[in-house]
Amino acid sequence: MDAIAAVTHADPYPYYAELAARPGLFFDAHLKLWIAAGAADVGAVLGHADLRVRPAAEPVPAAIAGGSAGQVFGALVRMNDGERHAAPKLVLQRALGALDLAAVHARASAIAGMGLADAPVALSAWMFAVPVQTVASLLGFRDAQLPQVAAWMADFVACLSPLSGAEQIARSHRAALALLDSFKAMLQSSAPMEGSLLAAVLAEAEAAGWSNSHAILANLVGLLSQTYEATAGLIGNSVVTLMRDPAKAALPAAVLVADVMRDDPPIQNTRRFAACDVQIGCARIAAGQAVLVLLAAASRHAALQGAQHGAQQGYGYGRGAHACPGQALSQTIAAAALEVLLRDGLPAPMAWRYRPSVNARIPEFIQDQETA
Ligand code: HEM
Repeated sequence: MDAIAAVTHADPYPYYAELAARPGLFFDAHLKLWIAAGAADVGAVLGHADLRVRPAAEPVPAAIAGGSAGQVFGALVRMNDGERHAAPKLVLQRALGALDLAAVHARASAIAGMGLADAPVALSAWMFAVPVQTVASLLGFRDAQLPQVAAWMADFVACLSPLSGAEQIARSHRAALALLDSFKAMLQSSAPMEGSLLAAVLAEAEAAGWSNSHAILANLVGLLSQTYEATAGLIGNSVVTLMRDPAKAALPAAVLVADVMRDDPPIQNTRRFAACDVQIGCARIAAGQAVLVLLAAASRHAALQGAQHGAQQGYGYGRGAHACPGQALSQTIAAAALEVLLRDGLPAPMAWRYRPSVNARIPEFIQDQETA
């Protein structure tokens, strides 16, 4: 086991607990990464201004630089610090913060109700389709466009994974272009639909003086990509929790989802890169070195400490300047989806395995005999 294999391991949590109990950051010579696992260390890393979201020498991964996917990646608030982060982040935060969550819940329920089937493969497809289609719909895409937007997004996110090969990267560039074009078409055809998330982003961008139209378009694509895997994973890990402990079906869906964010979260880690030599406690991180930040380990560690010393918040949505602005949105979508799933009782017991990933823990439901 190492901190990356842990992401898709059947039960990484005893291992994470061991790592979180070690005081301070430590260097994993095999992974060539610093590891931050305890709650205080994870907080310190995420709060440090010289620990950046991308390596200075490679703002866009070499594998995708030069193509459309790379152009989107390079403009995302998630992948920038400083000026290209601050104002755009505020814009997204305000636009997402103004969403009417009751309307989001209704939209997600309607979409979840359309594609639900009980075979394992269909369940896996459904948990991916619901979040991205809901956010696409909130942005202003028409119902008939939603499956196409979801399919493009499935192709696009391959550019975010170091595990993708040349063919996947090529599809990712094509999808990025198609997504940018579809947003452009929406903007040109008419004024953005009143009350839509798109209209809110544009209004907030104008108010904040953010006028880089390529960056705005890229970050609209970014809202879909940030939604896509993480929220599917939240739904999937909630289903896994129910398979393991069917009594939890009696919990309100919102409570179940919040518990899963703490105990079995979809985004298990993130990374930071030292812009100069950085000292965190006894650890000296040299300029250019990377830190693997074990969000999932820190959430459980914080919960343990909270049980001893009072309430502690989780780390599943990050912390500090880059903290996720989609928390309420993702939990509302996941809860709505689970309510639809549980309307006719629990699905029949199923097996699952985890999709290959270095940071996201997302189950894939399978027929029992496939596990043998
Ligand atoms: C369960 C679902 C989700 C999880 C677990 C999640 C998790 C995270 C995490 C851990 C980060 C911080 C990464 C870092 O600091 O390195 C982040 C950032 C971000 N998330 Fe989410 N997210 C989820 C859903 C969403 C949704 C639905 C949206 C919007 C539609 C969204 C938008 C963003 C954006 C824009 C950022 C970048 C913020 C920044 O860099 O300042 N996320 N998310």
